[in-house]
Amino acid sequence: MWLASEFRRTVRGMRDLINEEAENLRFIEQKARKVSRLYGYKEVVTPLVEHYELLAAKLGEENRRRMFVFEDLGGRKVALRPEFTASVARLVATKMQSAPRPLRLFSIGSLYRYDEPQFGRYREFWQANYELFGSNKSEADVEILALTNSLLKEIGLKSYFFKVGHVGILRSILSHDGIAEEQQNSIMQLLDKKQVDIALETAKNAGSSKSSLDTLETLLNIKGRQSDVVISEIYEAVKSYSEALEAAGNLSEIITMLKAGCVDADLLVEAGFARGLEYYTGLVFEVFVVDMDIAVGGGGRYDRLIELFGGGQVPAVGAALGVDRLSLALQKQRQISQRSEERRILVVAVESSLFGQAFKISNMLREKGFIVELEVMRRSVSKALSDADRRGITHAVIVGSKEIKQNMVVLRSMRERTQEIVPIEHLFERIMQ
Ligand code: HAM
Repeated sequence: MWLASEFRRTVRGMRDLINEEAENLRFIEQKARKVSRLYGYKEVVTPLVEHYELLAAKLGEENRRRMFVFEDLGGRKVALRPEFTASVARLVATKMQSAPRPLRLFSIGSLYRYDEPQFGRYREFWQANYELFGSNKSEADVEILALTNSLLKEIGLKSYFFKVGHVGILRSILSHDGIAEEQQNSIMQLLDKKQVDIALETAKNAGSSKSSLDTLETLLNIKGRQSDVVISEIYEAVKSYSEALEAAGNLSEIITMLKAGCVDADLLVEAGFARGLEYYTGLVFEVFVVDMDIAVGGGGRYDRLIELFGGGQVPAVGAALGVDRLSLALQKQRQISQRSEERRILVVAVESSLFGQAFKISNMLREKGFIVELEVMRRSVSKALSDADRRGITHAVIVGSKEIKQNMVVLRSMRERTQEIVPIEHLFERIMQ
């Protein structure tokens, strides 16, 4: 039968998953299920199609515009689910209202958002989703972060970090000046999109005082990996706002408990971090993989959604991991480690006083998966290089005093017999070329 060529392709943003893509999806799904079982989360299966109003309620303007919305044959306005949280919250507000708390629920499946297709962004994608209902205590937030970390470890992902913040800090500064929730939501959306100046302008027009605007601006510049330093900067910035201080205390407690539990997750604490979804009330986080500019997961605390759905006051916190993006990250990391292993590198310090630098560079390259030999016999560069040929070395990194002062080294390709001066931060890419 004849079929026009455009119909032989998948609809834009929709994909067929074949070979490794399909295998990775099922591999991650299996690991996600294993982690749900180990942490005591019970699976729930909710429909793909829900009432538009339910899904749209707290999704945030940006996501709302990207929903697949249609009228069914009965004239109902329905939509394809863009996330699991609203559906699971509906369950908790209705059929599972009397289920004992804490209630831990897991879902996995496909979701639909009319996003602009690009690397890691599709119109049909998968999430592994975990929700914990019934506790407003930091222990619950810590469990969700720890569980997320366990899943990432379980699938073998490397070099990832958590970006964490607390929307309670930002919102309480805005509430202090009586700014309505709707306007707060727009400001959070703008912060999510990194449109900081417009966000501050919107806060000003909505009635933020000069001192609140200054405080917000200070907060937006506070971030770092040394969480105790960042937390004390946040305390200092919000010291005249009692509710913001309380929220900062909550964030501090979560981080302290996470570390006390030896969860070795790499944290980047960012005071100005907000997410586009409107239901968040406390902790918010996203997971990033180094070298990939998109989040592989995200979540946070949302203590008022169940109430909005008529289920009474039920605090909640949850996380969703993007299966497709995890799969991309795994593929990328596997390729890099396979390709890295084809390279064999020698690192030579020109003088023994530079050995420490050479040592650091070797370790940095090993972390990227390269096989690295370090010159440990204090031979001259020329002797070490002639020996390198015999040992199957493909690249030599020569650490000299002149170059190192500018954070550079000499990179020599042993096969092509060429060399160039390369910034240390670009060494990996140059070796991979
Ligand atoms: P989200 O940040 O909108 O959060 O989505 C979570 C993850 O889903 C993202 O980090 C990303 O990996 C993946 N994702 C989102 N959109 C796409 C897309 N167009 N293509 C591929 N992957 C995508 C939520 O959905 C919240 N419901 C998470 C949550 C659960 N908060 C509390 N509980």
